[in-house]
Amino acid sequence: MKQQQSVFSGIQPTGEIHLGNYLGAIKNWASLLGKYECIFCIVDYHAMTIEYDVKAMQNNIHNAVLDNIACGLDPEKCTIFVQSDVPEVTELTWVLSTVTPMGDLSRMTQFKEKSKQHEQNINVGLFSYPVLQTADIILYKASWVPVGEDQVQHVELAREIVRDFNRRYGDVFPEPQALLTQARRVMGLDGKTKMSKSLSNTIALNETYDSLKKKIMGAITDEDRKRRHDPGNPDICNIMRYHEFFPGDDDLEKIDRECRTAEIGCVDDKKMVIDRIWEFLEPVQQKRAELAATEGYVEGVLQEGALRARKIAQDTMAEVREACGLRKYPLR
Ligand code: TYM
Repeated sequence: MKQQQSVFSGIQPTGEIHLGNYLGAIKNWASLLGKYECIFCIVDYHAMTIEYDVKAMQNNIHNAVLDNIACGLDPEKCTIFVQSDVPEVTELTWVLSTVTPMGDLSRMTQFKEKSKQHEQNINVGLFSYPVLQTADIILYKASWVPVGEDQVQHVELAREIVRDFNRRYGDVFPEPQALLTQARRVMGLDGKTKMSKSLSNTIALNETYDSLKKKIMGAITDEDRKRRHDPGNPDICNIMRYHEFFPGDDDLEKIDRECRTAEIGCVDDKKMVIDRIWEFLEPVQQKRAELAATEGYVEGVLQEGALRARKIAQDTMAEVREACGLRKYPLR
């Protein structure tokens, strides 16, 4: 009998972790440590579903691990590993693909969006991406999946796949549930689309002070406010949302009021936000640099994580094989 419920989540090693990832997911991951058994994964198999730079892959994984730990994922308190280090996930993906309706996969918003973005490469992996994601989650029998809003549809599908599997083969898996933060959908610098690397509208964790300043100064605010003395509307201003995410010691009610009465302009507001975001980024970057200076640190974390994750994965697969009437692993 399991003592503690598990949390599982993943992030793609696509080169740059940004404030959308942090606020929508990683911040939440860090807050769950100690309360649950927490397992976090760098999902390299998922990253292969779109064209990628093969030579950059290992570096991206390395950087993702450093960023995550610098943001608070203490590897003493959770398992951090790379998806492809636990190949059982591909075996479970196959099993689950036999209970997943094609129609459900073709309705996934992410599949539709990525098919448009990558017209020349609509591969089977892109289509069955949510099946692999379901396998990720349930291989560790996770009950909770902290994610941003864009991943909720995939977690809902995971619940349905689990229901179908359990109906057919017996009660093997718990139904996972998404966990959202206040920042479930962080908007990019354009204020109109979700912050996303593929849309080039991000603030990255490794932004320098100067690049942060440049990006925020160029960010879209309340577009109805044409002149400095026009009253602003913080309700529709994305910079105000950033302020809420990183309030620091600022009095947000005062800023809201002074924006509406035009006592402060967008530039004043932006200057404050730059400092608040920098107050968050600077120590994260310092911590990251310290970790990066220890040779072999990341590899050690990943080796240990893979061993822990693989043990759980093999136990689950033994159960799955028995439930599905397959042979026991002959060589274990
Ligand atoms: P990925 O790598 O795109 O993003 C990692 C996490 O960051 C969240 N996120 C955001 N949250 C709020 N606002 C934003 N602008 C924003 N941008 C990204 C994402 O929702 C996600 O939680 N398919 C997943 C990776 C994955 C996974 C899993 C997640 C693979 N297997 C199993 C959970 C469980 C993905 O592409 O995340």
